[in-house]
Amino acid sequence: MSNPASPAATESKSAGTAWTAAQEVIAAVEPNIARAISGELASQRRQLKLIASENYASPAVLLAMGNWLSDKYAEGTVGHRFYAGCEYVDQVEQIAADHARALFGSDHAYVQPHSGIDANMVAFWAILAKRVEEPALANAGVKNVNSLTDADWADLRQKFNNQRMLGMSLDAGGHLTHGFRPNISGKLFDQASYGSDPETGQIDYDALRAQAKEFKPLILLGGYSAYPRTPNFRIMREIADEVGATFMVDMAHFAGLVAGGVLTGDYNPVPHAHVVTSTTHKSLRGPRGGFVLCTSEYAPFVDKGCPMVLGGPLGHVMAAKGIAFAEARQPSFSEYAQAIVANASALAEGLAKRGVSLVSGGTSNHIVLLDVATSFGLTGRQAESALLDAGVVTNRNSIPRDPNGAWYTSGIRTGTPALTTLGFGPDELDEIADVMVTALKATKPANETAKAKYVIDEKVAGDSRQRCAELLGRHPLYPGIEL
Ligand SMILES: Cc1ncc(COP(=O)(O)O)c(C=O)c1O
Repeated sequence: MSNPASPAATESKSAGTAWTAAQEVIAAVEPNIARAISGELASQRRQLKLIASENYASPAVLLAMGNWLSDKYAEGTVGHRFYAGCEYVDQVEQIAADHARALFGSDHAYVQPHSGIDANMVAFWAILAKRVEEPALANAGVKNVNSLTDADWADLRQKFNNQRMLGMSLDAGGHLTHGFRPNISGKLFDQASYGSDPETGQIDYDALRAQAKEFKPLILLGGYSAYPRTPNFRIMREIADEVGATFMVDMAHFAGLVAGGVLTGDYNPVPHAHVVTSTTHKSLRGPRGGFVLCTSEYAPFVDKGCPMVLGGPLGHVMAAKGIAFAEARQPSFSEYAQAIVANASALAEGLAKRGVSLVSGGTSNHIVLLDVATSFGLTGRQAESALLDAGVVTNRNSIPRDPNGAWYTSGIRTGTPALTTLGFGPDELDEIADVMVTALKATKPANETAKAKYVIDEKVAGDSRQRCAELLGRHPLYPGIEL
């Protein structure tokens, strides 16, 4: 069984011609760069990609980035730039924002962030501006920070740094930008984390409510990088309202499932959150980038993202975002989103029936998180390397209460957006589960204390690579492009 053909898996003669020509132009200046570009394509064609955060963008998305919109400075927002001559960047940004608003049904969309991390920084500062700076300015009877006295400014700067955020813990699947110390968000906010219930592996909303009442955060942050379930955003908004928090959701991972109408009602963050951030390049299948959606009360603050925390907007990437949002508004994208989830279920079932322990027992989104320590006596680091030897690309990930810590880990995170783009179907995901389990059963730690070194049966690894190559042969990436 396979899915409807997606743009990256559909033969396009003109895309082939365009890239051949582009490579000629590039190679004439620096052939090593041209070779690396071709090399990356060859490598992506060789790998069975189960990395949950990666995908294959369409030729239209990729081609929209290689042009002179890149040469234009356009700090500010549409119609309010710090530079002259921004007519066409204005058009591009407006088109992309209009598509984003229509796609997600939000009051406002800001499509400038260069990545997911940048989108979160824009959101944090917009919330601080609305909740902390605006009242301070009103209190001082001035319109902007430049008019504050030195004493009032010093007081406001203290207040910025004294705010609290409640986000999902890293081992339950949260992201570093959700208030963890190695990231600027952790240096800025006093953060507390909510985890998942040890029995179910899912968020316990009663526990979250009690924690929020005790901690009283300015921001309640939903969203995740490695949580295989679908949070209930209606309940989370209720909790935020009860404690006076702004409810923000980072949907970087599952934006494609929202766009495709798989996550609706309580599971769609957009109607419930004040501010929603995202990447464009994961399940949404667009260019590398980010964006912010928000209610109209937060819009003027979000729009100040550049130059407050962002460098000049990337007009060429906003053009590609516009293409990706337009693609996601097509009915075929909703079939794609449904297929991502069907494939993840097939992978989870295939792994579980072969004896693998899965975090939360399975999946309801695009992510399947394997506990490889319990299932195979391996660390995530060993399993990640062994799977690569077997032809499957994944990444190691902490699991809740991980005994092996954040570096070696006990988990392997897998996800189905990329293979679904290529047209893989549930039967093939079941076969991939078999390849993975066969390879991991043939892998042992190199010695009793080894956390990185491992030994894999060479014959099993070779056979597995063969099986992966055969599967990939059925679903070529960018057919018609010969580089
Ligand atoms: C939930 C979440 N937010 C933000 C990011 C950061 O995205 P980017 O790498 O585009 O900055 C990621 C990426 O892994 C993510 O999973």
